[in-house]
Amino acid sequence: MAIQKHIALILQLLLIALVFEFANGSGLKLGFYKKTCPRAEAIVKRATANYIYRAPSLAASLLRVHFHDCFVRGCDGSVLINSTKNNQAEKDGPPNLSLRGFQVIDAAKTAVEAACPGVVSCADILALVARDAIHQIKGPFWQVPLGRRDGRVSKASESLTLPAPFANITQLKAQFASKGLSVKDLVVLSGGHTVGTSHCSTIATRLYNFTGKGDTDPSLDPKYIPQLKSICFPTDETTLLAMDPGSVRSFDEHYYTTVLKRRGLFQSDAALLNDKKTSAYVKLQAQSHGSTFFNDFQVSMIKMGKIGVLTGKAGEIRKHCAVIN
Ligand code: HEM
Ligand SMILES: *[C@@H]1O[C@H](CO)[C@@H](O)[C@H](O)[C@H]1NC(C)=O
Ligand SMILES: *[C@@H]1O[C@H](CO)[C@@H](O)[C@H](O)[C@H]1NC(C)=O
Ligand SMILES: *[C@@H]1O[C@H](CO)[C@@H](O)[C@H](O)[C@H]1NC(C)=O
Ligand SMILES: *[C@@H]1O[C@H](CO)[C@@H](O)[C@H](O)[C@H]1NC(C)=O
Repeated sequence: MAIQKHIALILQLLLIALVFEFANGSGLKLGFYKKTCPRAEAIVKRATANYIYRAPSLAASLLRVHFHDCFVRGCDGSVLINSTKNNQAEKDGPPNLSLRGFQVIDAAKTAVEAACPGVVSCADILALVARDAIHQIKGPFWQVPLGRRDGRVSKASESLTLPAPFANITQLKAQFASKGLSVKDLVVLSGGHTVGTSHCSTIATRLYNFTGKGDTDPSLDPKYIPQLKSICFPTDETTLLAMDPGSVRSFDEHYYTTVLKRRGLFQSDAALLNDKKTSAYVKLQAQSHGSTFFNDFQVSMIKMGKIGVLTGKAGEIRKHCAVIN
């Protein structure tokens, strides 16, 4: 009797461990393609470098594409799928605001397919391209555990579950927690906004009509507002703003100084000052010139890259990243 109970307990523990492993994306591993496509990482790196060298601004967007992929249905390459007659894909959901750089993924995939057809997933290629692009613009380097498989579903409506630029700290923490990411991951990954640009339309409300009375967002530095207004007129849909003016194209810790000065572009950036833990992190990185930011970013990116991944025999290895096989 006692032995049976023991066995039942051990089985239960094993089951819990197994579920935990999957939830953690531990089905992924370093060097996953060592035997099946040994040059995969080198090929992706070379293809990425060719583009980023000519168009460094693509690095920011590629990081964002990876983030969007992971937050919608897990890191399964679903963000890369093109819409079809019968399906409006994630790419065409409202929060896409100019996702760019799909040609880089396609070029990397084409080059990898030439070396080892049907082996390396688009989800893995995206994770590698984002890493290589950020490293190339002076950001940190992290080892990407591999073995993701590609999903077969991509729906525009699901992209609405991405955090919104007007989200408050409570919503942001909840949205990150729902992906298994901590409050620290939230403040660290928000540091991705140290590179790249935003459309004026994303912050028009903050500048011109915050509570519907023609007012501005009081959480934005009042001295910064005239500067932003001189760039963005109220109905401006096309002009781009630097997320972290002065160092848009090089990945550094300066974002935290910008946020601390209450010059973060989005309410979601400003919101990081409304929680003890996140505001302490913002201050620390601003004051210590990002002493731990690069290291923290590597850790959080690896974690983000494991959200909801498909492994083993799940999903497929897409032949073309924009099309389900
Ligand atoms: C915390 C919640 C987040 C919100 C609400 C958010 C929202 C946004 C929005 C609205 C834009 C600009 C879209 C536009 O107007 O063109 C943007 C840009 C960007 N986001 Fe985020 N984001 C978040 C987290 C992240 C994370 C976790 C990363 C990556 C680690 C990231 C990386 C970027 C980058 C690099 C850009 C610039 C893209 C470019 O230059 O094309 N964001 N984000
Ligand atoms: C996917 O859509 C893009 C943009 O519309 C297009 O350039 C590309 O050729 C499409 N890819 C495929 C494989 O249909
Ligand atoms: C974003 O979505 C809109 C439709 O909401 C679509 O017209 C546009 O082409 C999409 N942009 C990208 C880069 O996919
Ligand atoms: C955050 O937004 C939600 C939804 O709009 C709202 O219910 C909540 O009260 C807000 N929380 C804070 C701290 O502002
Ligand atoms: C400001 O917002 C209010 C309420 O949503 C709206 O009625 C008004 O037309 C807006 N004003 C402008 C200039 O967009």
